[in-house]
Amino acid sequence: MEHIAVAQDNDVLVVAPATANLLASFAHGLADDFLTTLYLAFTGPVVLAPAMNTAMWQHPATQANLETLRRRGHRIIEPEDGFLACGTIGPGRLAEPERIASAVMAELRRRSDLEGETVLVTAGPTQEALDPVRYISNRSSGKMGYALAEAAAARGAKVILVSGPVHVQAPRGVAVIPVRTAREMRTAVFENLERATVVVKAAAVADFHLTEIPAQKVKKTAARLTLELDPTPDILAELGRKKGDRLLIGFAAETENLEREARRKLETKNCDMIVGNLVSDTSGFDADDNEVLLVLRTGESIAVPRASKRAIADRILDESLKLRLALHSAHER
Ligand code: PMT
Repeated sequence: MEHIAVAQDNDVLVVAPATANLLASFAHGLADDFLTTLYLAFTGPVVLAPAMNTAMWQHPATQANLETLRRRGHRIIEPEDGFLACGTIGPGRLAEPERIASAVMAELRRRSDLEGETVLVTAGPTQEALDPVRYISNRSSGKMGYALAEAAAARGAKVILVSGPVHVQAPRGVAVIPVRTAREMRTAVFENLERATVVVKAAAVADFHLTEIPAQKVKKTAARLTLELDPTPDILAELGRKKGDRLLIGFAAETENLEREARRKLETKNCDMIVGNLVSDTSGFDADDNEVLLVLRTGESIAVPRASKRAIADRILDESLKLRLALHSAHER
């Protein structure tokens, strides 16, 4: 079938100009002609260069469809301001061919820049049992870690995804190792560490747990219940001690002093990069978007403005590759 054959034989899908109708069809998975069926059958990078009347471009429906497509990891080349075919002036003009071509070249370079790498990602929360029916946990949805796994796989890496309990769909071609507790996560990470060349610890691991879990459900008899919790294993710190020449990327979720805390974690846990998340209602835990500060072993800090978690994931991987080159050349000197 031709739409399947074309999808399998090509490296990038570029639509220029992309109409409002096409963006809507792609966003909602409507497949009633050759191009839209090809889109559903295509697993590589997608570059879209929209062109349309200004009001159509600014319409909330078009903007919502664009947001969906961005979240899916597609590259949108914003239209330019200018004289439009409909006779009006404003944003909606197809981007110049040079901009489209350079976006396509960037996608092609990314497509295989992690080939030969094995990326071990941890995602989601852990759940620490209090009795057979209750647990303590946190608000991590797994979206950030799954976006990293998806981005790494799309760029040619083998991906091992160790995940706490989440409701996010596994990325295509990525095998998930499900875990529940911090201890189970530690075991899964160290069982798979040998193969990994890059480790990304996006999981929100519980810091404390109950070591002696009651065999029966705790009854509501006393007026007050006091819990004595012990620390869980610090997986990132142990990875830092055993990292060898792997690239080790940790996360830090903070409510204040983001840069200072991220740098402290970088040093104490011997990481190469810490992705700092300032926790807010619209980014970090459970949100679709994120806004992060990358704190690097080279001493540099990079503020990455708000974007979808998929776009942030690609930026983290871009900066990780640059960082590895910088660390190698510093080592050679
Ligand atoms: O899952 P989402 O809803 O998409 O949200 C994303 C996120 C906010 C959970 C994620 O991006 C994030 O910030 N993850 C780290 C959250 C966290 O637990 O931060 P921390 O500062 O407590 O931990 C620092 C680092 O140590 C993390 O890499 C963590 O995985 C690791 N750690 C922590 C405790 C522990 N016992 N073992 C660990 O390995």
